[in-house]
Amino acid sequence: MQRRTHRPALFPRVRQWLNPAALFLPLLLVILPLSGCATSPSILRPAGPGAARINDLWWIMFAMATVVFVVVEGLLIYATVRFGRNRPPGEPRQVYGNTLVEAGWTSIPAVILAVLFVFTLRTMAVLKVPATNPTLAVQVIGHQWWWEVRYPGEHIVTANEIHIPVGQMVPVQLNSADVIHSFWVPELQGKLDVIPGHTNVTWLEASQPGTYRGQCAEFCGVQHAHMAFLVIADPPDQYARWVASEQAAAVAPTAATARHGMDVFMASACVGCHTIQGTKAQGKIGPDLTHVASRDTIAADTLTNTPANLTAWIHDPQGIKPGNDMPDLPLSPSDVQAIVAYLQTLH
Ligand code: CUA
Repeated sequence: MQRRTHRPALFPRVRQWLNPAALFLPLLLVILPLSGCATSPSILRPAGPGAARINDLWWIMFAMATVVFVVVEGLLIYATVRFGRNRPPGEPRQVYGNTLVEAGWTSIPAVILAVLFVFTLRTMAVLKVPATNPTLAVQVIGHQWWWEVRYPGEHIVTANEIHIPVGQMVPVQLNSADVIHSFWVPELQGKLDVIPGHTNVTWLEASQPGTYRGQCAEFCGVQHAHMAFLVIADPPDQYARWVASEQAAAVAPTAATARHGMDVFMASACVGCHTIQGTKAQGKIGPDLTHVASRDTIAADTLTNTPANLTAWIHDPQGIKPGNDMPDLPLSPSDVQAIVAYLQTLH
């Protein structure tokens, strides 16, 4: 008498779907991240020697992972086709342990990881800060949620924008005023943690003039995503002009609205947090505004620096970037307009 097994009707269906799913899921995982990153800064479009070395390492890892993927998936497909529907009759041969196979799947990954380890060490050695005594060094201080940028040798303080001369290696000292952040400019350099009470040093170098977006890469509170910055690589003469302009103190405005805006600014809580060199505003909590009009963005690359956005920001900083240190001040719309007119004179 033959014994019959009764399975629920669903079960063969699930099995039928399981094999294609097992094959396509890894493929999807490969393809999905590749879509939707056409415009964002990518380590695959390096614009400087540091990122170029990281890009080289990435391609080596990708090539090795591709070989592993093809071999493993190939064996999986082979097994599915060969032993799936038209499986040979009878019970398969029973195997208990196989020294050769076990030695293989232990040693092959070990060799792959060892090769990657060597490539990684070589890349890390190249990315180390060169032991030269550079003429230019930048200090970057992470705050929740913006970047203070200081050029001690040049006596410049700015925020959220780092100008560097193109083709020059610029060491960057990283410190934090509060929690751990991470400094990352994908097109120029790898990530480095920004740690309170500890100085980390990285460097930036851009091969071509341009603007490269950076981003905090370590979760640091609710506005972590709005903690971006720009690295602007200038040709040498343009860089020299930028330095000269940043070194100058703010010039008091002459137009009536801007003058009124300056009076409102100096009489309000603004001065408690912001510095404008050459005025009584010497606050140290928020970004230095001495040359705020020369910057491309405000609120750490959250908004482009336009009069409309400045107005919206001063009206409702907590609505635009909830939790940031700038309070909603009780300013009338006309006072806000006047402050915006004043800030726009600060080139
Ligand atoms: Cu700072 Cu995330």
